[in-house]
Amino acid sequence: GQYTASQRKNVRILLVGDAGVGKTSLILSLVSEEYPEEVPPRAEEITIPANVTPEQVPTNIVDFSSVEQNDDALAAEINKAHVVCIVYAVDDDDSLDRITTHWLPLVRATCSNSNNSNSNGNSNCNVSSSTKPIVLVGNKIDLIEYSTIDSVLAIMEDYPEIESCVECSAKTLHNISEMFYYAQKAVLHPTSPLYIMEDQD
Ligand code: GTP
Ligand code: MG
Repeated sequence: GQYTASQRKNVRILLVGDAGVGKTSLILSLVSEEYPEEVPPRAEEITIPANVTPEQVPTNIVDFSSVEQNDDALAAEINKAHVVCIVYAVDDDDSLDRITTHWLPLVRATCSNSNNSNSNGNSNCNVSSSTKPIVLVGNKIDLIEYSTIDSVLAIMEDYPEIESCVECSAKTLHNISEMFYYAQKAVLHPTSPLYIMEDQD
């Protein structure tokens, strides 16, 4: 049936991206509202209660660590997520290149595999394009004096599943709550027709 926000019981946000871009720091900065100098490889899964989220929906935030998790665990988390935040570091061009050479193709391939091999309708992937909403997150904006948004807008032209992009800093907390809000919004109010063909039930 028609998708509406009120049917969504929770929003599950997964952060992926190259090692060292600041995924764990972003999550811990959001939770503690201060920058953690020392972070573990992977943050525990956290649940933000509905009443403190802008969209009033309980929100699970899930970290990924290539040290602690293998490819199968990553694929399972991609399939469980409602939105994937691909994080890069704005001062690290390699991490930006890897959005198109690695992460976007990986999310697409994981979603289409699960659609092919799993007919129980349990996948959160979009049926028409075999993917799910993406938010591109440029972290460490405190380190540079320019913007990477031009490169990111070029990527967005080629990948319609990218709902939004944001530059932020786990260190200064700049745009941290906005980043998680954009991720919620990508699920609850997608702007591209990701869900139109999909029967959520
Ligand atoms: P893996 O767990 O190895 O995949 O890395 P990660 O993406 O979780 O990165 P992590 O949060 O461990 O941060 C990596 C390094 O970047 C740490 O030394 C952080 O302190 C630093 N860092 C994270 N966010 C920021 C930021 O916004 N600004 C600056 N200047 N440094 C940051
Ligand atoms: Mg980490």
